[in-house]
Amino acid sequence: MQLALSTWQEVEDYLRTQSGVIVPIGSVEQHGPNGLIGTDHLCAEVVAKGVGDRIGCAVAPTLAYGMSQHHLGFTGSATLRPSTLMLVVRDVVQSLAVHGFRRFFFINGHGGNVATVTAAFDEIYAEMSLGRSEVPVRCRMTFWSSGPRGKVLAEELYAGVNGHHATASEVSLAQYYQPGAIKHAQMTPKVAPTAPQFFEAADYRARFADGRIGSDPSLSSPEHGKRLYDAAVDDMVEAYQAFMAY
Ligand code: NI
Repeated sequence: MQLALSTWQEVEDYLRTQSGVIVPIGSVEQHGPNGLIGTDHLCAEVVAKGVGDRIGCAVAPTLAYGMSQHHLGFTGSATLRPSTLMLVVRDVVQSLAVHGFRRFFFINGHGGNVATVTAAFDEIYAEMSLGRSEVPVRCRMTFWSSGPRGKVLAEELYAGVNGHHATASEVSLAQYYQPGAIKHAQMTPKVAPTAPQFFEAADYRARFADGRIGSDPSLSSPEHGKRLYDAAVDDMVEAYQAFMAY
């Protein structure tokens, strides 16, 4: 059940029997020469909607913007500061909690969100622990690609060159979701460089000239994307149900 496509009465009915909601979260940032700016939020969204269609759980509108300061050296990228993103996450969770939602399962598409969103969850829990909020919410965040089926399939398809940013698997999944926006590009070197650490946007751009990290997304295809989608939906259905039962 997509919140955006529901009436308030339908949400009220849902909350009579269920209190869980999936929140897709991603980023607006470059994804190399053939990856879309929206890759991270598109991937989180298509998997979240797939889970919602499969088991009927609520799916909130996608939080498209994320913490992407290190990508601002590439045109079209936009970031929320960590402090802004923490407030966005807290306000969304606490708003939905007013109505009776209690379990918030974030399906994430962007590694740069992890520290900030985890800190936002701790801010929410701190308000409960300090006695400033009576509403007992629980939150969890999981990468759409982190389940057992998804990890095995990504390794089968892209052994060793899926990479860390603009990955072959996320580009494939976005191609499956948005086949009208498939891009083709020459990439040199074929497999992008890696580095143990990077800092701000200028440093990132100097280390990773075309935006990729360790990946070869020339291997991507919408057919791969369909297989990755099926695996991710199966994985995230299990992960959501485990969280609801925890
Ligand atoms: Ni990404």
